[in-house]
Amino acid sequence: MSGITPQKVNYLRLSITDRCNLRCFYCAPAGEWEKLPAPEILRYEEMLHLARVAVAQGIRKIRVTGGEPLVRRGVVEFIQGLHQVPGLQEVCLTTNGVRLGELAPGLYAAGLRHLNLSLDTLRRERYQELTGSDHFLEVQSGLEKAASLGFHPIKINCVVLKDLNDDELLDFARLAQERPFQVRFIEFMPTVSRRKWNRHFLPMAEVRRRLAVLGEREPLTRKTCAGPARIFRFPGFRGELGFISAISEHQCPECNRLRLTAAGRLRPCLFGAAEIDIKGPLRQGADDAALGRLFREAVNLKAWKPEFTDPDTFHPCRQMVSIGG
Ligand code: 5AD
Ligand code: SF4
Repeated sequence: MSGITPQKVNYLRLSITDRCNLRCFYCAPAGEWEKLPAPEILRYEEMLHLARVAVAQGIRKIRVTGGEPLVRRGVVEFIQGLHQVPGLQEVCLTTNGVRLGELAPGLYAAGLRHLNLSLDTLRRERYQELTGSDHFLEVQSGLEKAASLGFHPIKINCVVLKDLNDDELLDFARLAQERPFQVRFIEFMPTVSRRKWNRHFLPMAEVRRRLAVLGEREPLTRKTCAGPARIFRFPGFRGELGFISAISEHQCPECNRLRLTAAGRLRPCLFGAAEIDIKGPLRQGADDAALGRLFREAVNLKAWKPEFTDPDTFHPCRQMVSIGG
């Protein structure tokens, strides 16, 4: 660990499915991926069990991801179950919003308040190009439904893609100006071919430069479970803007997260290859102490150094859909 004091790992990203109802350009570029056979995917009761073990190991926040979590049957009841895990302080959901309008009331009743919506364009036609589907209007009404129900915070994640959506930066900013949303710009990570990534990567510094017209920005202090986003308030804004430099200013020592994939593997780093199977031991009847040791082992395997940010050594991570970002 070469002298750095790593952040305490208190945040688990839990992928509950590798299925998705969209085919985003950077995540499912070839259109299809090999789906896990159903028995390989953790059952909800297994995930709730692991959530309790995780809390005993210091996890305080769990984000439910996918694939697209809202396509898995029973997700609302599962999220309700997560809210009953003692000691868990925060439950969040990342969704593409396609089924949000339909499920938002149930999710709210289940106790959920924190929502992250992945949305890379505010234009219907372009949405079709980027996601391979015509669900833009559903996403828009899902967002409105969630806002009217009182979900808070609502964060909108926009992956910035040069020549694909970087002409919409100010439109996204305007959304945070007019509405109490936190709009976060995310650097494009190398999940696609090197050529494609080079062509569409736009550094966050350039994004911030282009948004300088919005006026003086005031940095907001971060909460203990916060991710790598840098959040700012701008004059006259009801919401906030965030910048996530996953590549250019990647700060491994600040990383406080672990991932649990839909296949039941603990993943210490998003772009590292290391994974620890926890489903096997769980199904073979390992006790909570043994399962807890696997969580600690995963934390100890965190690289704490930015392996993938060197453009010559990174290896594209092609399984984003089963890791959940
Ligand atoms: N670069 C940046 N973000 C990505 N996501 C998926 N693939 C990439 C990528 N290559 C994001 C989605 C969503 C989250 C689950 O992961 O946009 O916000
Ligand atoms: Fe689905 Fe998210 Fe991948 Fe898009 S980025 S295809 S919404 S899992």
